[in-house]
Amino acid sequence: MVRFSVGSDGRFNLPGKTAFVTGGARGIGFALARTLHAGGAKVVLSDIDGPAVIQAAATLGQERTMGVAVDVTDRVSLNAAVEAALERFGGLDIVVANAGIAPVPAATVLTTDQAVFDRTLDVNLFGVWNTVQATLPQLIARQGHIVLTASIYAFLNGAATAPYAITKAGVESLGRALRTELAASGVTAGVLYPGWVDTQLVHAAIDADPIASRMLDELFPRPLARRVTADEVANAAVRGIERRAARTVVPKRWLPLLFMRGLANPLLDHLLDGNSKVQKALHDLEMRGRPAAERSGRVETSPERRTTG
Ligand SMILES: NC(=O)c1ccc[n+]([C@@H]2O[C@H](COP(=O)([O-])OP(=O)(O)OC[C@H]3O[C@@H](n4cnc5c(N)ncnc54)[C@H](O)[C@@H]3O)[C@@H](O)[C@H]2O)c1
Repeated sequence: MVRFSVGSDGRFNLPGKTAFVTGGARGIGFALARTLHAGGAKVVLSDIDGPAVIQAAATLGQERTMGVAVDVTDRVSLNAAVEAALERFGGLDIVVANAGIAPVPAATVLTTDQAVFDRTLDVNLFGVWNTVQATLPQLIARQGHIVLTASIYAFLNGAATAPYAITKAGVESLGRALRTELAASGVTAGVLYPGWVDTQLVHAAIDADPIASRMLDELFPRPLARRVTADEVANAAVRGIERRAARTVVPKRWLPLLFMRGLANPLLDHLLDGNSKVQKALHDLEMRGRPAAERSGRVETSPERRTTG
Protein backbone atom coordinates (compact mmCIF):
# COMPACT_ATOMS: atom_id res chain seq x y z
CA MET A 1 0.00 0.00 0.00
CA VAL A 2 1.41 3.36 -1.02
CA ARG A 3 1.62 5.96 1.73
CA PHE A 4 1.30 9.51 0.43
CA SER A 5 2.96 12.31 2.32
CA VAL A 6 -0.16 14.18 3.43
CA GLY A 7 -1.15 16.22 6.44
CA SER A 8 -3.22 14.84 9.32
CA ASP A 9 -6.34 16.24 7.61
CA GLY A 10 -5.50 14.22 4.49
CA ARG A 11 -4.23 17.26 2.57
CA PHE A 12 -0.90 17.70 0.85
CA ASN A 13 0.06 20.69 2.97
CA LEU A 14 2.10 23.51 1.46
CA PRO A 15 4.21 24.80 4.38
CA GLY A 16 7.76 23.46 4.07
CA LYS A 17 7.22 22.14 0.54
CA THR A 18 9.31 23.36 -2.40
CA ALA A 19 7.61 24.15 -5.72
CA PHE A 20 9.22 24.58 -9.15
CA VAL A 21 7.07 26.54 -11.63
CA THR A 22 7.92 27.09 -15.29
CA GLY A 23 6.64 30.17 -17.11
CA GLY A 24 6.74 31.87 -13.70
CA ALA A 25 7.57 35.42 -14.78
CA ARG A 26 3.99 36.44 -15.43
CA GLY A 27 0.43 35.30 -16.09
CA ILE A 28 -0.81 32.00 -14.68
CA GLY A 29 2.69 30.82 -13.69
CA PHE A 30 3.41 33.87 -11.59
CA ALA A 31 -0.05 33.82 -9.98
CA LEU A 32 0.47 30.15 -9.11
CA ALA A 33 3.90 30.80 -7.63
CA ARG A 34 2.51 33.70 -5.57
CA THR A 35 -0.39 31.59 -4.28
CA LEU A 36 1.88 28.66 -3.38
CA HIS A 37 4.22 31.09 -1.60
CA ALA A 38 1.32 32.67 0.30
CA GLY A 39 0.36 29.15 1.41
CA GLY A 40 3.79 28.64 2.97
CA ALA A 41 5.72 26.90 0.17
CA LYS A 42 9.22 27.74 -1.02
CA VAL A 43 8.97 28.65 -4.70
CA VAL A 44 11.37 28.48 -7.62
CA LEU A 45 10.08 30.64 -10.46
CA SER A 46 11.64 29.77 -13.80
CA ASP A 47 11.15 31.46 -17.16
CA ILE A 48 12.85 32.10 -20.49
CA ASP A 49 12.72 35.81 -19.63
CA GLY A 50 15.54 35.81 -17.05
CA PRO A 51 15.39 39.46 -15.87
CA ALA A 52 11.57 39.35 -15.61
CA VAL A 53 11.52 36.14 -13.57
CA ILE A 54 14.19 37.37 -11.17
CA GLN A 55 12.19 40.56 -10.73
CA ALA A 56 8.96 38.56 -10.26
CA ALA A 57 10.59 36.34 -7.61
CA ALA A 58 11.91 39.43 -5.80
CA THR A 59 8.39 40.82 -5.45
CA LEU A 60 7.56 37.75 -3.30
CA GLY A 61 10.47 38.47 -0.95
CA GLN A 62 13.92 36.91 -0.54
CA GLU A 63 13.44 34.19 2.04
CA ARG A 64 11.47 31.41 0.35
CA THR A 65 11.82 32.36 -3.31
CA MET A 66 14.26 32.24 -6.16
CA GLY A 67 14.03 33.22 -9.81
CA VAL A 68 15.97 31.34 -12.45
CA ALA A 69 16.29 31.72 -16.24
CA VAL A 70 15.31 28.57 -18.09
CA ASP A 71 14.30 27.61 -21.60
CA VAL A 72 12.06 24.55 -21.29
CA THR A 73 12.94 23.49 -24.84
CA ASP A 74 16.56 23.03 -23.71
CA ARG A 75 17.28 20.09 -21.38
CA VAL A 76 20.69 21.47 -20.38
CA SER A 77 19.11 24.74 -19.27
CA LEU A 78 16.36 22.85 -17.39
CA ASN A 79 18.82 20.55 -15.63
CA ALA A 80 20.87 23.58 -14.55
CA ALA A 81 17.73 25.26 -13.17
CA VAL A 82 16.77 22.13 -11.22
CA GLU A 83 20.34 21.87 -9.87
CA ALA A 84 20.16 25.50 -8.73
CA ALA A 85 16.82 24.82 -7.02
CA LEU A 86 18.22 21.75 -5.23
CA GLU A 87 21.28 23.66 -4.08
CA ARG A 88 19.09 26.37 -2.58
CA PHE A 89 16.18 24.34 -1.16
CA GLY A 90 17.41 20.72 -1.06
CA GLY A 91 14.62 19.01 -3.06
CA LEU A 92 11.34 19.41 -4.95
CA ASP A 93 7.84 18.47 -3.77
CA ILE A 94 5.68 20.26 -6.35
CA VAL A 95 6.33 20.92 -10.03
CA VAL A 96 4.09 22.97 -12.30
CA ALA A 97 4.98 22.48 -15.99
CA ASN A 98 3.24 25.61 -17.12
CA ALA A 99 5.38 27.52 -19.66
CA GLY A 100 3.51 27.84 -22.92
CA ILE A 101 2.88 29.97 -25.97
CA ALA A 102 0.06 30.40 -28.47
CA PRO A 103 0.70 30.28 -32.20
CA VAL A 104 0.56 33.81 -33.62
CA PRO A 105 -0.94 34.70 -36.02
CA ALA A 106 -3.98 32.41 -35.92
CA ALA A 107 -4.03 30.41 -39.15
CA THR A 108 -5.55 27.38 -40.80
CA VAL A 109 -3.52 24.19 -41.08
CA LEU A 110 -2.90 24.93 -44.77
CA THR A 111 -1.40 28.34 -44.11
CA THR A 112 0.32 27.87 -40.72
CA ASP A 113 3.96 28.88 -40.89
CA GLN A 114 6.18 25.84 -40.26
CA ALA A 115 8.37 27.78 -37.81
CA VAL A 116 5.29 28.74 -35.76
CA PHE A 117 4.15 25.11 -35.68
CA ASP A 118 7.61 23.87 -34.65
CA ARG A 119 8.01 26.47 -31.91
CA THR A 120 4.53 25.78 -30.49
CA LEU A 121 5.27 22.07 -30.25
CA ASP A 122 8.76 22.73 -28.89
CA VAL A 123 7.57 24.88 -25.99
CA ASN A 124 4.12 23.46 -25.21
CA LEU A 125 4.71 19.74 -25.72
CA PHE A 126 8.44 18.98 -25.69
CA GLY A 127 8.91 21.68 -23.04
CA VAL A 128 6.43 19.94 -20.73
CA TRP A 129 8.00 16.56 -21.48
CA ASN A 130 11.46 18.00 -20.68
CA THR A 131 10.20 19.52 -17.45
CA VAL A 132 8.67 16.21 -16.36
CA GLN A 133 11.82 14.25 -17.13
CA ALA A 134 14.14 16.78 -15.50
CA THR A 135 12.18 16.92 -12.25
CA LEU A 136 10.65 13.47 -11.80
CA PRO A 137 13.54 11.89 -9.85
CA GLN A 138 13.23 14.70 -7.29
CA LEU A 139 9.46 14.23 -7.00
CA ILE A 140 9.87 10.48 -6.57
CA ALA A 141 12.39 11.07 -3.77
CA ARG A 142 9.78 13.17 -1.91
CA GLN A 143 6.48 11.62 -3.06
CA GLY A 144 5.50 14.92 -4.60
CA HIS A 145 2.86 16.17 -7.01
CA ILE A 146 3.22 17.46 -10.58
CA VAL A 147 0.75 19.64 -12.45
CA LEU A 148 0.78 19.88 -16.23
CA THR A 149 -0.90 22.99 -17.62
CA ALA A 150 -3.07 21.91 -20.54
CA SER A 151 -6.13 23.92 -21.60
CA ILE A 152 -9.77 23.43 -22.53
CA TYR A 153 -8.27 23.10 -26.03
CA ALA A 154 -7.28 19.59 -24.95
CA PHE A 155 -10.91 18.72 -25.72
CA LEU A 156 -12.25 21.67 -27.79
CA ASN A 157 -12.14 21.76 -31.59
CA GLY A 158 -8.84 23.49 -32.45
CA ALA A 159 -9.86 25.03 -35.80
CA ALA A 160 -7.71 28.14 -36.44
CA THR A 161 -5.28 27.15 -33.71
CA ALA A 162 -4.49 23.52 -34.50
CA PRO A 163 -0.84 23.60 -33.31
CA TYR A 164 -2.00 24.79 -29.88
CA ALA A 165 -4.81 22.24 -29.60
CA ILE A 166 -2.46 19.43 -30.64
CA THR A 167 -0.04 20.31 -27.86
CA LYS A 168 -2.72 20.61 -25.20
CA ALA A 169 -4.29 17.26 -26.11
CA GLY A 170 -0.78 15.82 -25.90
CA VAL A 171 -0.16 17.37 -22.49
CA GLU A 172 -3.43 15.92 -21.20
CA SER A 173 -2.44 12.51 -22.49
CA LEU A 174 0.98 12.78 -20.86
CA GLY A 175 -0.58 13.77 -17.52
CA ARG A 176 -2.97 10.81 -17.51
CA ALA A 177 -0.22 8.34 -18.38
CA LEU A 178 2.05 9.80 -15.74
CA ARG A 179 -0.55 9.53 -12.99
CA THR A 180 -1.01 5.84 -13.68
CA GLU A 181 2.69 5.10 -14.09
CA LEU A 182 3.48 6.87 -10.82
CA ALA A 183 0.63 5.44 -8.77
CA ALA A 184 2.85 2.87 -7.06
CA SER A 185 5.56 5.44 -6.24
CA GLY A 186 3.44 7.79 -4.16
CA VAL A 187 3.90 10.62 -6.67
CA THR A 188 0.72 12.11 -8.16
CA ALA A 189 0.17 13.97 -11.42
CA GLY A 190 -2.67 16.31 -12.31
CA VAL A 191 -3.81 18.13 -15.44
CA LEU A 192 -4.86 21.79 -15.26
CA TYR A 193 -7.46 22.90 -17.83
CA PRO A 194 -7.88 26.69 -17.83
CA GLY A 195 -10.51 28.32 -20.03
CA TRP A 196 -9.68 31.77 -21.41
CA VAL A 197 -7.56 33.69 -18.95
CA ASP A 198 -6.78 37.39 -19.01
CA THR A 199 -3.02 37.19 -19.73
CA GLN A 200 -0.56 38.36 -22.38
CA LEU A 201 -1.01 35.05 -24.20
CA VAL A 202 -4.65 35.79 -25.07
CA HIS A 203 -3.98 39.48 -25.63
CA ALA A 204 -1.41 38.58 -28.31
CA ALA A 205 -3.25 35.64 -29.86
CA ILE A 206 -6.85 36.91 -29.77
CA ASP A 207 -7.26 40.58 -28.81
CA ALA A 208 -4.64 41.80 -31.29
CA ASP A 209 -6.19 39.75 -34.12
CA PRO A 210 -9.61 40.88 -35.42
CA ILE A 211 -10.29 37.63 -37.32
CA ALA A 212 -9.34 35.43 -34.34
CA SER A 213 -11.57 37.57 -32.09
CA ARG A 214 -14.48 37.25 -34.54
CA MET A 215 -13.94 33.50 -34.84
CA LEU A 216 -14.05 33.12 -31.07
CA ASP A 217 -17.23 35.20 -30.84
CA GLU A 218 -18.85 32.93 -33.43
CA LEU A 219 -17.66 29.73 -31.80
CA PHE A 220 -18.54 30.41 -28.20
CA PRO A 221 -21.50 32.28 -26.68
CA ARG A 222 -20.42 35.12 -24.38
CA PRO A 223 -20.96 33.48 -20.97
CA LEU A 224 -18.91 30.48 -22.03
CA ALA A 225 -16.01 32.55 -23.39
CA ARG A 226 -15.94 34.99 -20.46
CA ARG A 227 -12.37 35.26 -19.20
CA VAL A 228 -11.16 34.46 -15.74
CA THR A 229 -8.16 36.03 -14.00
CA ALA A 230 -4.81 34.34 -13.52
CA ASP A 231 -5.47 34.51 -9.75
CA GLU A 232 -8.70 32.51 -10.13
CA VAL A 233 -6.79 29.84 -12.02
CA ALA A 234 -4.01 29.87 -9.43
CA ASN A 235 -6.43 29.51 -6.50
CA ALA A 236 -8.19 26.54 -8.10
CA ALA A 237 -4.88 24.96 -9.14
CA VAL A 238 -3.44 25.26 -5.64
CA ARG A 239 -6.57 23.72 -4.11
CA GLY A 240 -6.05 20.91 -6.65
CA ILE A 241 -2.44 20.49 -5.57
CA GLU A 242 -3.51 20.24 -1.92
CA ARG A 243 -5.92 17.45 -2.90
CA ARG A 244 -3.45 15.84 -5.35
CA ALA A 245 -6.27 16.22 -7.88
CA ALA A 246 -6.11 14.38 -11.21
CA ARG A 247 -7.99 17.21 -12.96
CA THR A 248 -8.58 20.89 -12.26
CA VAL A 249 -10.90 22.80 -14.58
CA VAL A 250 -11.19 26.60 -14.28
CA PRO A 251 -13.81 27.97 -14.66
CA LYS A 252 -16.07 25.11 -13.64
CA ARG A 253 -18.55 25.81 -16.48
CA TRP A 254 -16.28 23.67 -18.71
CA LEU A 255 -16.63 20.60 -16.48
CA PRO A 256 -19.72 19.17 -18.22
CA LEU A 257 -17.98 19.23 -21.62
CA LEU A 258 -14.83 17.69 -20.13
CA PHE A 259 -16.87 14.76 -18.88
CA MET A 260 -19.35 14.55 -21.78
CA ARG A 261 -16.91 15.09 -24.63
CA GLY A 262 -17.25 11.59 -26.04
CA LEU A 263 -20.87 12.35 -26.89
CA ALA A 264 -20.74 16.12 -27.30
CA ASN A 265 -17.65 16.59 -29.48
CA PRO A 266 -18.89 14.78 -32.60
CA LEU A 267 -22.06 16.86 -32.45
CA LEU A 268 -20.19 20.14 -31.85
CA ASP A 269 -17.71 19.36 -34.65
CA HIS A 270 -20.63 18.72 -36.99
CA LEU A 271 -22.25 22.04 -36.03
CA LEU A 272 -18.97 23.90 -36.72
CA ASP A 273 -18.58 22.27 -40.14
CA GLY A 274 -21.94 23.72 -41.15
CA ASN A 275 -21.76 27.12 -39.39
CA SER A 276 -21.49 29.75 -42.14
CA LYS A 277 -20.05 32.46 -39.86
CA VAL A 278 -17.32 30.14 -38.59
CA GLN A 279 -16.57 29.01 -42.14
CA LYS A 280 -16.38 32.66 -43.27
CA ALA A 281 -13.90 33.50 -40.50
CA LEU A 282 -11.80 30.46 -41.47
CA HIS A 283 -11.91 31.56 -45.12
CA ASP A 284 -10.71 35.05 -44.12
CA LEU A 285 -7.87 33.54 -42.07
CA GLU A 286 -6.88 31.43 -45.03
CA MET A 287 -6.87 34.41 -47.40
CA ARG A 288 -4.77 36.38 -44.94
CA GLY A 289 -2.21 33.59 -44.56
CA ARG A 290 -2.11 32.54 -48.19
CA PRO A 291 0.36 35.08 -49.65
CA ALA A 292 3.05 34.15 -47.11
CA ALA A 293 2.35 30.44 -47.63
CA GLU A 294 2.66 30.91 -51.38
CA ARG A 295 5.88 32.88 -51.06
CA SER A 296 7.40 30.12 -48.92
CA GLY A 297 6.36 27.54 -51.55
CA ARG A 298 4.21 25.55 -49.10
CA VAL A 299 1.03 26.35 -50.99
CA GLU A 300 0.79 26.45 -54.74
CA THR A 301 0.16 29.91 -56.17
CA SER A 302 -3.55 30.18 -57.00
CA PRO A 303 -4.47 30.49 -60.71
CA GLU A 304 -5.79 34.07 -60.23
CA ARG A 305 -2.49 35.12 -58.74
CA ARG A 306 -0.52 33.45 -61.50
CA THR A 307 -2.44 35.24 -64.23
CA THR A 308 -2.41 38.61 -62.47
CA GLY A 309 1.32 38.18 -61.76
N1 LIG B 1 -4.24 32.51 -21.04
C1 LIG B 1 -5.10 31.56 -21.36
O1 LIG B 1 -6.23 31.84 -21.77
C2 LIG B 1 -4.73 30.12 -21.17
C3 LIG B 1 -5.77 29.17 -21.25
C4 LIG B 1 -5.46 27.82 -21.12
C5 LIG B 1 -4.16 27.44 -20.88
N2 LIG B 1 -3.17 28.39 -20.81
C6 LIG B 1 -1.81 27.90 -20.61
O2 LIG B 1 -1.30 28.45 -19.41
C7 LIG B 1 0.12 28.52 -19.49
C8 LIG B 1 0.56 29.92 -19.10
O3 LIG B 1 0.02 30.83 -20.02
P1 LIG B 1 -0.31 32.37 -19.66
O4 LIG B 1 -1.66 32.62 -20.16
O5 LIG B 1 0.05 32.65 -18.26
O6 LIG B 1 0.69 33.08 -20.69
P2 LIG B 1 1.79 34.22 -20.50
O7 LIG B 1 2.24 34.52 -21.87
O8 LIG B 1 1.27 35.31 -19.65
O9 LIG B 1 2.94 33.47 -19.67
C9 LIG B 1 3.70 32.45 -20.24
C10 LIG B 1 5.09 32.47 -19.64
O10 LIG B 1 5.84 31.39 -20.20
C11 LIG B 1 7.14 31.86 -20.51
N3 LIG B 1 7.75 31.06 -21.55
C12 LIG B 1 7.47 31.03 -22.88
N4 LIG B 1 8.30 30.20 -23.51
C13 LIG B 1 9.13 29.66 -22.58
C14 LIG B 1 10.20 28.75 -22.63
N5 LIG B 1 10.63 28.24 -23.80
N6 LIG B 1 10.82 28.41 -21.48
C15 LIG B 1 10.43 28.95 -20.31
N7 LIG B 1 9.43 29.85 -20.20
C16 LIG B 1 8.78 30.20 -21.33
C17 LIG B 1 6.91 33.31 -20.96
O11 LIG B 1 8.11 34.09 -20.93
C18 LIG B 1 5.85 33.77 -19.98
O12 LIG B 1 6.41 34.34 -18.82
C19 LIG B 1 0.47 28.14 -20.93
O13 LIG B 1 0.85 26.78 -20.98
C20 LIG B 1 -0.83 28.34 -21.67
O14 LIG B 1 -0.92 27.55 -22.83
C21 LIG B 1 -3.44 29.70 -20.95
